Amino acid sequence: MTRTRTRSRTEKDAADAAPRLHVVTFGCQMNKYDSERVEGRFRRRGWRTTSSAEDADAILFNTCSVREHAEDRVWSWLGRLKREKERRPELVVGVMGCMAQRVGEELFRRAGHVDVVCGTRQLLHLPELVEEVRARRAEPAGGGRGRARVLSLDTDGRVSADREGEVYEGGPHGYLAVMRGCDLACSFCVVPSTRGRVQSRPIEDVVREARWMVERGARAISLLGQTIDAYGRDLSLPGPEEARGRGRGGRPGLADLVYRLQELEGLARIRLVTLHPTYVDEHLARALRDCDKCDRFLPLPLQSGSDRVLAAMRRGYTTELYRRRIDLLREQLPDLELASDWIVGFPGEGEEDFRASERLLADHGFAVNYVFKYSPRPGTTAAALPDDVPEEVKKERHQRLLAVAERAGLERHQRQIGRRQPVFVEEVSERAPGTLVGRTFHNLACTFEGELERVGPVVEVMPLEASPYGLAGRMGAD
Ligand code: SAH
Ligand code: F3S
Repeated sequence: MTRTRTRSRTEKDAADAAPRLHVVTFGCQMNKYDSERVEGRFRRRGWRTTSSAEDADAILFNTCSVREHAEDRVWSWLGRLKREKERRPELVVGVMGCMAQRVGEELFRRAGHVDVVCGTRQLLHLPELVEEVRARRAEPAGGGRGRARVLSLDTDGRVSADREGEVYEGGPHGYLAVMRGCDLACSFCVVPSTRGRVQSRPIEDVVREARWMVERGARAISLLGQTIDAYGRDLSLPGPEEARGRGRGGRPGLADLVYRLQELEGLARIRLVTLHPTYVDEHLARALRDCDKCDRFLPLPLQSGSDRVLAAMRRGYTTELYRRRIDLLREQLPDLELASDWIVGFPGEGEEDFRASERLLADHGFAVNYVFKYSPRPGTTAAALPDDVPEEVKKERHQRLLAVAERAGLERHQRQIGRRQPVFVEEVSERAPGTLVGRTFHNLACTFEGELERVGPVVEVMPLEASPYGLAGRMGAD
């Protein structure tokens, strides 16, 4: 008894003395996953994580560069932090991820209170970098302004599967990055320069991490990659035995990974984010058909309905080729739902081009749509083109395409009404306690009354109402 009490006090003291980390995440799911990994690495070295900036010893911003607005938000957060840093000069402020990679040294110049700038492939070194700054500060000669910088895109920043000693906090649904970077060169996109070339993780590595997550409570996993259907193209060729039955000359691909994860006991759902039409093939379509853990839902961004604009965007496909790709998928998966990203106001986009986007969104019946106004990004090839669609027109097209997206979304969700189906339970609704939020097999959001503690991971729900963004239904077998 006494021993237990003594030990717990020591543990408590140690925990109180532990430095605290606060991470602010912007951008995509990949960033959420990266932030979790970074937090895990800090904890492994004895840090604690905190949800408040006020009691943090280090604050890290995981940033996004995809549109100018995303970077503006980081600058303004940094600005607000200036006073806090004046009050507590010992606070370490770090910027990591895409914007750190893109802007680099300029962050130190424009925001003098930033101590650490860490690129996208070096994230797991962050604990050492932050500790280095703290140690240099503690030296009497250090003058209190130690800095560490990492900006390289070197491949030594490979994300390893080793998560021992980390705490999994993802809940029933977790993210898992299976690859890094992008080998395409869409003219509007900053990602290839901020995240580098494709680097796929070996299948065993991914399976090990998925198992680690499942052992800690994950039931659904979203596999992440910028062009996840390009997974494996950079991996080395296996021996003839292993290669049997594989596509593309025996190189492991996304299909092989999916077959492996289908076998993973305890895993109920597999989601894929994001595919590129160029890499969609028969082999993948068949694997998705064979693996009933894979959601009948794929994000396959079309970006524009105009061939002229697609060519200027250097997307590498025409609307006709895109149509053939979804035909190929739907042949194997007749009930597939699709999501798309759209850019409006790309240089040279005329009214006719825009109407083609409206038309194709409706024709293909995308259930989920993300619509963005074109934002020129420094260093991209499109940045050399005149940004000639006036802001007013971009705004108007944005609204118009959103309205078409709402109609399409409503129509797709309405199709599910009256079709009783299994729903994967994810969380309690923030807006309406007593209501649970889950996802159908088509990855459509579905709310229903229930208590988290009293339902299993998957429940039968009868959808009764639909909106452009989700379903509401009743739990139960009748
Ligand atoms: N890897 C994904 C998307 C990466 S960025 C793909 O293959 O499509 C996410 C989305 O942001 C893109 O699909 C695109 O619609 C949008 N986007 C990227 N760059 C943009 C820019 N410069 N202006 C506006 N939207 C942009
Ligand atoms: Fe960007 Fe195109 Fe790759 S949108 S992430 S360059 S597929």
